Amino acid sequence: MVYPKRYTVTTALPYANGPVHIGHLAGVYVPADIYVRYLRMNGKEVIFIGGSDEHGVPITIKARQEGVSPQQIVDKYHEMIKKSFLDFGISFDIYSRTSMPLHHETAQAFFRKLHEKNVFTEDTIEQLYDEEAGMYLADRYITGTCPKCGYQEAYGDQCEKCGTSLSPTELINPKSVLSGSKPVLKKTKHWYLPLNQYEDWLKEWILEGKKDIWKTNVYGQCASWINEGLKPRAVTRDLDWGVPVPLSHAEGKVLYVWFDAPIGYISATREFTGDWEKWWKDPDTKLVHFIGKDNIVFHCIIFPVMLKAEGSYIVPDNVPANEFMNLEGDKISTSKNWAVWLHEYLEEFPGKQDVLRYVLTANAPETKDNDFTWKDFQAKNNNELVAILGNFVNRVISLTHKYFDGVIPESTDTTALEQINIPAYREKVSQAIENYRFREAQSEMMNLARAGNKYLTDTEPWHLIKTDRQAVANVLNNCLQICANLSQLMHPFLPFTAEKIEALLHIRRNLNWFDIGRTDIVKAGQKIEPPSFLFEKIDDKIIEYQIEKLKNSKSAKHTAIAPAPLKEEISFEDFQKNDIRIVRVLEAEKVEGTDKLMKLTIDLGFEQRTIISGIAHQYTPEEVKGRQVAYLSNLKPRKIKGIESKGMILMIQESNGKLVFLGPYNETENGSTVG
Ligand code: MF3
Ligand code: ZN
Repeated sequence: MVYPKRYTVTTALPYANGPVHIGHLAGVYVPADIYVRYLRMNGKEVIFIGGSDEHGVPITIKARQEGVSPQQIVDKYHEMIKKSFLDFGISFDIYSRTSMPLHHETAQAFFRKLHEKNVFTEDTIEQLYDEEAGMYLADRYITGTCPKCGYQEAYGDQCEKCGTSLSPTELINPKSVLSGSKPVLKKTKHWYLPLNQYEDWLKEWILEGKKDIWKTNVYGQCASWINEGLKPRAVTRDLDWGVPVPLSHAEGKVLYVWFDAPIGYISATREFTGDWEKWWKDPDTKLVHFIGKDNIVFHCIIFPVMLKAEGSYIVPDNVPANEFMNLEGDKISTSKNWAVWLHEYLEEFPGKQDVLRYVLTANAPETKDNDFTWKDFQAKNNNELVAILGNFVNRVISLTHKYFDGVIPESTDTTALEQINIPAYREKVSQAIENYRFREAQSEMMNLARAGNKYLTDTEPWHLIKTDRQAVANVLNNCLQICANLSQLMHPFLPFTAEKIEALLHIRRNLNWFDIGRTDIVKAGQKIEPPSFLFEKIDDKIIEYQIEKLKNSKSAKHTAIAPAPLKEEISFEDFQKNDIRIVRVLEAEKVEGTDKLMKLTIDLGFEQRTIISGIAHQYTPEEVKGRQVAYLSNLKPRKIKGIESKGMILMIQESNGKLVFLGPYNETENGSTVG
């Protein structure tokens, strides 16, 4: 194998419209992190890129649902996602975001360059338009039946069931997500990337060049698209959220999110270093995209065609896409709240990052969809991490303290160590990682712990000590060398545990991958720390709680609670007595000593008022401040907790008790009346 000069490793940019869950981790971020940590230990030059995808319809739909601006949505989730990745030990060199100005500039320059090279074709087409909402319907604003597989909830740009990439007009029975109405066709102009003109190149580059190199699932998907014949694909949209199309006569148009987002990898590199071009333009750089299977067409066909058409970029060497991770037998679903959320895991299992990393890698959906269950999580923790790895290291350290006062004894015989043959484990792990087989790699690492455990058990130092102290010294020195080697071999997979072992054994931090196999990583005469557990048993109660929590979150959303009964009829005059207005919340603070009450200062346009509202158990003041909400202004004032409250804000109450703000679709004047 010829080694490249450097590696550019990217991970799919998650949409900043919700937190990250175990499906994301298992499919993309954990394998990428293992790969990168391995490369770094090998002294390779590598950049590891992540960031938030902050454009596109998924963001605007979420903003609409929450009644806030798209910017507020991405600000909130970007910070949250970034922090949880960091806490989880995903070792990005840069975690960027696509709403930053440098990205807009980079994406626009890229578009302009293709435009100047006459790469695009232009076309005025009839596009689906929602007459009630007054808006063109792009991508996920439309659902309908997939023309290929018949799935009824396919999106306008892709069917998530069969993976086909679609145009909105191909959907059977299209429906607007906004109003539920049937959209009409209306003329609009767009720019197209003529994928069809790159078919020959794609055939040569992928079908001939990547056979038996790319994973079969990835190669197979690409082959079926290319062989079916590719069509020009629109790279602009009629939306008001995104990177504006950098041409005159293109007002109200933005770049298609799948045009700008992958360019986000390049923008992130530019944000990280001024010397960015070598990572993207030097043919000796190996570009690897870690993604989930629903992203294959974008990373294997569309983005490479963009890079190729631009002319000065390299194209990916490999795209090791994974299948999906299911949860307790069902597909993970953000909207159905069927997920294990990373930020919640980190709070509920503090210090146990490596346990989740281990379980996700052991079950990695590398060749087929796989299933995460809490019972299996518990079993892998208790029977593998605790019983094999933790137990081995702990016994070795304890015995060293018991028989040699915590000082590494001198060894006179390393035969056993040579028989175990640590370099062979290193080579197997290397081979597996370099071929993107991370489950196999991790299980080889565990096999070394198993071998160590067996050696310790077979030699029985606790009996041997009565007759042959030097033999025990040999066994423990050998075992300590195995622990030290294990700490290095596990670094890519279990970085937190690796550091704990290093601290216990006082191992220098500047070792590299080729030190693995040495029989003198720790030296005789050196003091080590007293034993401390690397892993602890997780008991049934904790697992039952997690299973219960999952079931509840699902039923909360889906069991129909009897609808509130309709109220008695009233006259129009009765109704007109209500003075309802749109007001803005200027200030919000929790009322001390209460759970639910929040004190709000609101602006009616011509005056400000104070009200007390029962929403503090569901919203923080930051989430309330700045919103425009509906407000009943002529409700008789009441004193609540000593504060006079004038009128009340109107909230939607969902059947599960959730309160949702009611406000105008678009910004309006404070004090506007509602009726
Ligand atoms: N946000 C997309 C998703 O979650 C992934 C974007 S990857 C990028 O499916 F390349 F476009 F950045
Ligand atoms: Zn389909």
